[in-house]
Amino acid sequence: MPRYSDELIEEICSRNDIVDVVGRYVKLSKRGSTYFGLCPFHNEKTASFSVTPSKQMYYCFGCGAGGNVITFLMNYENFSFTEAIQELAKNAGIELPKQEYSPEQKREADKRQLLFDANKEAGKFYYAMLRSERGKKAYEYFVGRKLSDETMKKFGLGYSDMYSDSLYKYLKSKGYKDELLKETGLFTYDEAKGAHDKFWNRAMFPIMDVHNKIIGFGGRVMGDGEPKYLNSPETRIFDKGRNLYGLNIARSSKRDGLLLCEGYMDVISLHQAGFDNAVASLGTALTSGHANLLKRYTKDVYLTYDSDGAGVKAALRAIPILKQVGITAKVVDMKPYKDPDEFIKALGAEAYEDRIKNAENSFMFEIRMLEKQFNLSDPTEKTSFQHAVAEKLLSFPEELERNNYLEAVADKYMMGYDNLRKLVLSLAAKGVPQRKEKDEVSERRSRNIKKVDGMKQSEKLLLTYLIEDTGLFEQLKGYISPSDFSEGLYSQAATMLFEQYEQNKTVNPAQIISRFEDEEDQRELASLFNAKVRFLSTKTEQEKALLETVIRVKQNSLDNMSQNLDPTDMGGLQKLIEEKKKLTNMNRLVFTINIPEE
Ligand code: UTP
Ligand code: MN
Repeated sequence: MPRYSDELIEEICSRNDIVDVVGRYVKLSKRGSTYFGLCPFHNEKTASFSVTPSKQMYYCFGCGAGGNVITFLMNYENFSFTEAIQELAKNAGIELPKQEYSPEQKREADKRQLLFDANKEAGKFYYAMLRSERGKKAYEYFVGRKLSDETMKKFGLGYSDMYSDSLYKYLKSKGYKDELLKETGLFTYDEAKGAHDKFWNRAMFPIMDVHNKIIGFGGRVMGDGEPKYLNSPETRIFDKGRNLYGLNIARSSKRDGLLLCEGYMDVISLHQAGFDNAVASLGTALTSGHANLLKRYTKDVYLTYDSDGAGVKAALRAIPILKQVGITAKVVDMKPYKDPDEFIKALGAEAYEDRIKNAENSFMFEIRMLEKQFNLSDPTEKTSFQHAVAEKLLSFPEELERNNYLEAVADKYMMGYDNLRKLVLSLAAKGVPQRKEKDEVSERRSRNIKKVDGMKQSEKLLLTYLIEDTGLFEQLKGYISPSDFSEGLYSQAATMLFEQYEQNKTVNPAQIISRFEDEEDQRELASLFNAKVRFLSTKTEQEKALLETVIRVKQNSLDNMSQNLDPTDMGGLQKLIEEKKKLTNMNRLVFTINIPEE
């Protein structure tokens, strides 16, 4: 990735006022010192999207989207960081320097670029073919599947014709070398027969990454035949475990959550019916890479897999993978139809919307599928089922949550809450072999997570105070420093804030955001910088809360310090003792807060 200097990025930002940039896309009206409008990142009727000129940032109180001019373009236009910089530089009439790469980086970057180019050319070639005389049959195939011209265009659908070397000849004529073409995975090389197109006489689905770049293709036989779909192999630019079909569009959907389905056609049908939040994995089972990718965009995933046995199995495999990254999935029932595509065609969008509304909690889905393996009118089997349920309930480390599920399951399967509860407790006491160990681990882990989360909150709050009231920098000097923040991202942000304050006696949060390349980091910082200190009833209470926060952060920092201290490090030990002494005296301090009312 090219890297521009911080100064240059800052220059570019300062010449693109946030109100102007956002104002090109969103109608804004001024209220006090802030502008408001309808959030372009989620569906809303009242304006909770704010743009603050003094901070040069935007923030949505509804959905939490936030950032500076760069992240705005990244999210609105699906630009990469570099593309956003280039666009803003162009707006401001700033010329960007050519990027310096090491020769190796340059070779790799060039190669990736050439692979993107070749895939793009191939996409254009298939696209034109579909709309030509030779593509008539494929065009009719798509029409037969009820796709509109607009949909075909939106997904860049195409056709690979009957001749098995059309694309090869075309790309050769464009100057692409065999060495590179081999790497695209679009051709088969045979010593005797030479090179051939991998895809021929197939309806073509280009696969795009989140930046709308073609990274591979799926090709379907038109009618029956094997294999039904042929896909590009993985290449330097095509990682099947880290890309999802349709995410390039779904990521800017205003709908709640993401719909995860199995097939290309499901995604396309759903989008055509207005569900532009549908995505699919790429002819592979769901991976934890996909789960993490999904998590970047949403907390709510609706599994809308095929209703047949294979679809159920795929859902049962996907649920724990999603759970592991903290996504609680819901399962959408497609019966009596095979998949979303057929469902929509038969019953329409409204019926599908109802199915989403009635989607089943994934735990309840798992239990329902489990139940099918038992004949509940047989007492022995019923007991086995109850044991299996109780054991599954043990997977919830938190009691409250476990009891909620216990209640729901007992209710649904008429097992008697108390009996089931006793069974769960006795299993827990017996320590269902193997599982118990796992539970202890997960319990410890969840306790740890809670502690870490609590600390994260405190550190976040402290940064919010500092941004809201820069007078606190002076007061906190000597008590808190950036290295006291345990959360990596916050510690980096704190370092930059303290530096800015040292230099200019003020802070510039928008500038800090641009120093982070990861979109997730940018989002998190934006929410942090736009958080408001919740007003407690009195100033004294407020100041007490601040002091407690400072002490908590410091305490944690010292705990970490003593844990990591090398026992032979006398200097370190002395410092630790001093700091600890300071800490015990801290609760007598008073920090005065001075936050102007909006
Ligand atoms: P399905 O067989 O459910 O196909 O495979 P589909 O999506 O409903 O397609 P249509 O409606 O019959 O055209 C689901 C997905 O699995 C992958 C593809 O990504 C497909 O979209 N797949 C399926 C393959 O990669 N190869 C195959 O041979 C079949
Ligand atoms: Mn289908």
